[in-house]
Amino acid sequence: MEHLLSVKGLRKYYSKVKAVDGISFELYPGEVVGLIGPNGAGKSTTLKTIMGLLRKTEGEIRVCGYDHRDVQARMRIAYIPETPDIYPILTVWEHMKFIALAYNLHNWESEALKYMEAYDLLDKKDELGASLSKGMQQKLMVICSLLHHPELMLFDEPFIGLDPKAMRELKDTIRRLRDEGKAVLLSTHMLDSVQNLADRVLILKAGKLIYQGTIGEIMEKAGPGGTLEDLFLEVTK
Ligand SMILES: Nc1ncnc2c1ncn2[C@@H]1O[C@H](COP(=O)(O)OP(=O)(O)OP(=O)(O)O)[C@@H](O)[C@H]1O
Ligand SMILES: [Mg+2]
Repeated sequence: MEHLLSVKGLRKYYSKVKAVDGISFELYPGEVVGLIGPNGAGKSTTLKTIMGLLRKTEGEIRVCGYDHRDVQARMRIAYIPETPDIYPILTVWEHMKFIALAYNLHNWESEALKYMEAYDLLDKKDELGASLSKGMQQKLMVICSLLHHPELMLFDEPFIGLDPKAMRELKDTIRRLRDEGKAVLLSTHMLDSVQNLADRVLILKAGKLIYQGTIGEIMEKAGPGGTLEDLFLEVTK
């Protein structure tokens, strides 16, 4: 099967700090993959480097077969950063219009309204970005990222700050993306969510991939009654 993301021998050094130190992995259509690891392991750096927001030190990254800096790759990828990155002086609806213009989307309005209803943002349609709570800003980022139907979604700690209903909605969104054959790379410390949502897990520590396996393999390794958290604490200690 063709992979949607391929990362080969990726290194990202910040002067002397080896934030990502030679990692390789692939994502295939219809998979949710958890990228987990202790604070400072290099998860956010990995996602930002895939997005081309940081210049890689070494390695190769391909999205749907294209170099990740190619416009063809950029059209097929979306990223939800750790902290929402909204435009303070655009309204909620203007954010969506902006995305529609940037990606040359047509007939996006009904879908945008549907997402706004699902994420309880309809009554904020004409509010400025600056006036939204952090959770609302995050929901806005999620909706904006979905409008161009990316093949590959990168999420950096997307659950922090969301209310329970939004958290459920986002989990449903992630499952729907998988069912549609997209690939999702989900970085989070919420290991129970990873255990429930992901098909496969990558564990990063000090810039290196120290473990990878399917949820089935992990549950087998963790033993009866064992959890992903048990395995995580074991392999990262
Ligand atoms: N802009 C930067 N300049 C220098 N060093 C950085 C920079 N950003 C991150 N680092 C370092 O790179 C390493 C990886 O950081 P990164 O933010 O990728 O970790 P993380 O796995 O996302 O951690 P967390 O779970 O806390 O979000 C850390 O040692 C961090 O101090
Ligand atoms: Mg991080």
